[in-house]
Amino acid sequence: MKIGILKETQKGERRVCISPSIAKQLIEKGFEVIVEDDAGSTSSFKNSDYEKIGAVVEKRGVVFKEAQVLVKINPFDEEDLKLVDDSHILMSQLFHKSHPELIKAIAEKGATAFSMDAMPRISRAQDMDVLSSQSNLAGYKAVILGAYEMTKIFPLMMTAAGTITPSRVLIYGVGVAGLQAIATAKRLGAVVEATDIRLETKEQTESLGAKFITVDNTGEEKAEGGYAKAASEDYIRRQKEAVNKSLFQADLVITTAMVPGRKSPILITEDQIKQMKNGAVIIDLAAAQGGNCELSKLNKTVIEHGVKIIGTTISPESVSTNASDLYGKNMLNFIKHLTEENKFKWDLEEEITDETLIVKDGIIRKNGKTE
Ligand code: NAI
Repeated sequence: MKIGILKETQKGERRVCISPSIAKQLIEKGFEVIVEDDAGSTSSFKNSDYEKIGAVVEKRGVVFKEAQVLVKINPFDEEDLKLVDDSHILMSQLFHKSHPELIKAIAEKGATAFSMDAMPRISRAQDMDVLSSQSNLAGYKAVILGAYEMTKIFPLMMTAAGTITPSRVLIYGVGVAGLQAIATAKRLGAVVEATDIRLETKEQTESLGAKFITVDNTGEEKAEGGYAKAASEDYIRRQKEAVNKSLFQADLVITTAMVPGRKSPILITEDQIKQMKNGAVIIDLAAAQGGNCELSKLNKTVIEHGVKIIGTTISPESVSTNASDLYGKNMLNFIKHLTEENKFKWDLEEEITDETLIVKDGIIRKNGKTE
């Protein structure tokens, strides 16, 4: 079976779906690997790195012609689909709930498509979960970006010229990104607080040495398949009451609160921003889903009422070498899961296959239908 590694074409994207070290493992398992020319160039991987481990580097059209499996990070786009036919098995994040037209176009080609973002949140799927591996890096990088944008340092520092008190960091949402942000901010010496609608995150927060801000709950903390449910207006009001004191003292705020398939909740309003410290920084990691902060703008830095607000998706792209390695490892595990002796042998009754397989031989499956 020949696996095709495509170059990402989305603006700003720097990652590649499978790095040379992971391609090597696929080849050792007996798969053939064909790589689009320059696919790894923005993640520090040269064509020759792929060639050295036994992969073949070819122009785009040849990859589509020769590979049975086509792998990407971002959803297949119109240009890709012009080259797709019914012999192809596509693997990428498809975000099928918000891209019904893409799913329809794939089906019209008669192709088969797996969506990596549809991975169920069960323990045996953890090593195939691309949302998790990329969010982890985003949480780390958000803190580094915040540290760079702040006019203060993180740790307590006693010097002959006086004592510097540690910065205060507040994190909304203790999922994968939030947990890594807590750990990174702690390592840099900040005083860290965090809050989340799912109460099980209290123990996880405290185990990292941060303080958890508990919001009085009315049963909304119950997660669905690992994900939070949308919070009610009443919850958001009570959350403000519980968190405001910490928000108004914070030097850096990182927001990561998301609800799958929905706009992210507004947790910080303009009125709250007015009461924050002059010079504070907000990194809004939920910006692509509408943002957790009322004033954030995607891919922009704005200063409002003395607070610097950075709306970002961050940027596994900005750590593209590690991000490509981890995404590739998730893909390797997924391909191993679907194959036996290098041939596809999948079981539609099995949860991981069932949930990630969105289109099969041109037919949109139940989980791919949005209406
Ligand atoms: P996410 O990116 O969907 O959301 C981030 C965080 O925001 C979540 O912790 C969520 O509870 C929180 N949130 C949502 N609305 C909120 C609100 N109004 N106020 C405060 N917080 C709010 O979630 P992520 O990071 O993808 O992970 C969710 C859970 O799934 C985690 O517990 C994670 O450990 C688990 N997980 C399990 C996997 C597996 O078992 N295979 C793989 C990946 C994650």
